Amino acid sequence: MPVIPHSRPTIDHAEIDAVTAVLKSGQLAQGGQVLRFEQALAARIGVRGALAVSSGTAALHLALLALKIGEGDEVALPSFVCPALLNAIRSVRAVPLLADIDPMTFNIDVQDLRRRLTAKTKAVIVPHMFGLPADIREIVALGVPVIEDCAQSLGSRYEGVPTGRFGTLAIFSFYATKVICTGEGGMVASNDQRLLDAVRDLREYDEKADDRLRYNYKLTDLQAALGMVQLEKLPALIARRRALAKQYDDFLSRCAAPVPARPAERESIFYRYIIRTERLAELLAAGEGAGIAYRRPVFKPLHHYLGTTGYPASEAAFRTGASLPIYPSLQDDEVAAILSHVQPFLRR
Ligand SMILES: Cc1ncc(COP(=O)(O)O)c(C=O)c1O
Repeated sequence: MPVIPHSRPTIDHAEIDAVTAVLKSGQLAQGGQVLRFEQALAARIGVRGALAVSSGTAALHLALLALKIGEGDEVALPSFVCPALLNAIRSVRAVPLLADIDPMTFNIDVQDLRRRLTAKTKAVIVPHMFGLPADIREIVALGVPVIEDCAQSLGSRYEGVPTGRFGTLAIFSFYATKVICTGEGGMVASNDQRLLDAVRDLREYDEKADDRLRYNYKLTDLQAALGMVQLEKLPALIARRRALAKQYDDFLSRCAAPVPARPAERESIFYRYIIRTERLAELLAAGEGAGIAYRRPVFKPLHHYLGTTGYPASEAAFRTGASLPIYPSLQDDEVAAILSHVQPFLRR
């Protein structure tokens, strides 16, 4: 039986050639390829600079350190997101302050966030979930430094402006199945040269005047060459994601099932396509039997890990949200198989 994975990277000869050329060059660690990749990403987002690191989690860690966030400070974040954010906050000994999500968009709920902020809240991490921009203008207007988490949103726009240009800092992930990939990898971007200098200093440990705690969070030239080819393909990768989302939208409309919310001023890149079903466990199990990998879009909401309550929208998203396979190499016949399989489970 053919198996449709939940996600997979889109790689062809161009990536293989680029990585092979770096292997032949003898310069494998951070060098000219990394610099090129950093400059290309910064130009695409429209920010002063970007620094490549070894993962999105490392990017979050260094962004928090650059903002001088430490013991006793609070960092706000939504509950419906992966634990990478929680890990980064704990790495600097700060306290996570969870907010609920908007039930329609799965993004952090600005009103709920505003209610929960305290004098100790020193930053907000705002992930643009599943490729759809969050209420980023309203959140920036709250006056707390914002780390935009673009791990799932590279190429999306809010009022025509790329996500990653709004926050004090922005982070990206290039994990194997992200929008573009380097296997593992990440980037920190900012318009603030002081913050960029701080991130650069913390990213590498050698040849420093003092022995302050620093890290080895560098990306390799091998990875950057791969990332560079992927970044050049970004428009085509996003176009295919949007075409797939349109097929899903049209089908849901025909079935009178709700299509994912899409506020007018936001251009999603459909990193994920989430449907709602009251029979989530059944759908996941049936998918396994049929060779179709549906997933919970978030394995477990963060308030479950922290043992707290008071996040009803996050809870509902966890109980009913199912992520359908959506990635550029997904074929039309695979989409057809998914649609006919998922139909009985749709909420109307
Ligand atoms: C929203 C978000 N932020 C951060 C990360 C962490 O990225 P990485 O896996 O590269 O450490 C992820 C990874 O899945 C993510 O989805």
